Amino acid sequence: MTAPLLEVAALSRRFGGLQAVRDLSFRVGEREIVALIGPNGAGKTTAFSLIAGALAPDAGEIRFRGRSLVGLAPHQVCALGLVRTFQVMRPFPRLSVVRNVMIGALGRHAGRRAAEAKARAVLDELGLAAKAEHPAGSLTLAERKRLELARALATEPALLLLDEVMSGLTDHETERLVEEVRAINARGVAILLIEHVMRAVMSLAQRVVVLNYGERIAEGRPADVANDPLVIEAYLGDEGVAAPA
Ligand SMILES: Nc1ncnc2c1ncn2[C@@H]1O[C@H](COP(=O)(O)OP(=O)(O)O)[C@@H](O)[C@H]1O
Ligand SMILES: [Mg+2]
Repeated sequence: MTAPLLEVAALSRRFGGLQAVRDLSFRVGEREIVALIGPNGAGKTTAFSLIAGALAPDAGEIRFRGRSLVGLAPHQVCALGLVRTFQVMRPFPRLSVVRNVMIGALGRHAGRRAAEAKARAVLDELGLAAKAEHPAGSLTLAERKRLELARALATEPALLLLDEVMSGLTDHETERLVEEVRAINARGVAILLIEHVMRAVMSLAQRVVVLNYGERIAEGRPADVANDPLVIEAYLGDEGVAAPA
């Protein structure tokens, strides 16, 4: 693997009596695409919240470019070049699409004009330019997913955390988004993605980390992980999700 961009070590977090993330360790290299998969409730989104500074870990270390992120607020983590999207998207529905994206760009560009130029460039890349002046609340699901991606990209990250950006999309929309994620990665952005759509995981990820009950139960190449009996068993225990094989 290339030099680690993100290094998560022995990360743990509980909610009352529930150990949501337990002793979790993994790395993401420069320019790598890593998938974090696992049944519903496995602790994937909690892991993202810990990494992105939205939740404090009970124990463990998170290093980004060698620097500890523990104790930093989300905006500080974002300023260092690490940003996440949200599984439950929260755009400002009455603001226009371009204004929503400008909110992300303002972290890098002090001037309003520069932020708007950046926002429009990102919308262009993601095929959303025609919707720039529409209120965010008027977008279709696939467009809202793109907007969520645009907001994150406008912060100019080195590492992008994507939480189920493909879920609920048609096959065609998924294929398109997979290609867009690939293009973002090709421009040098490392990606850590939580995804239930196994086709997307298989075609994008170089490495897969599998969580179950907060613990890492497998890690490896997508094809190997999909055939791992422990992984298949974990998925079969969750009727909401198809087995990844
Ligand atoms: N803020 C919270 N308070 C209490 N329990 C939570 C909270 N967030 C998540 N959980 C619980 O932690 C577990 C892991 O949740 P989550 O990280 O969302 O899983 P995943 O994203 O893998 O589906 C679940 O049992 C969930 O109900
Ligand atoms: Mg989740």
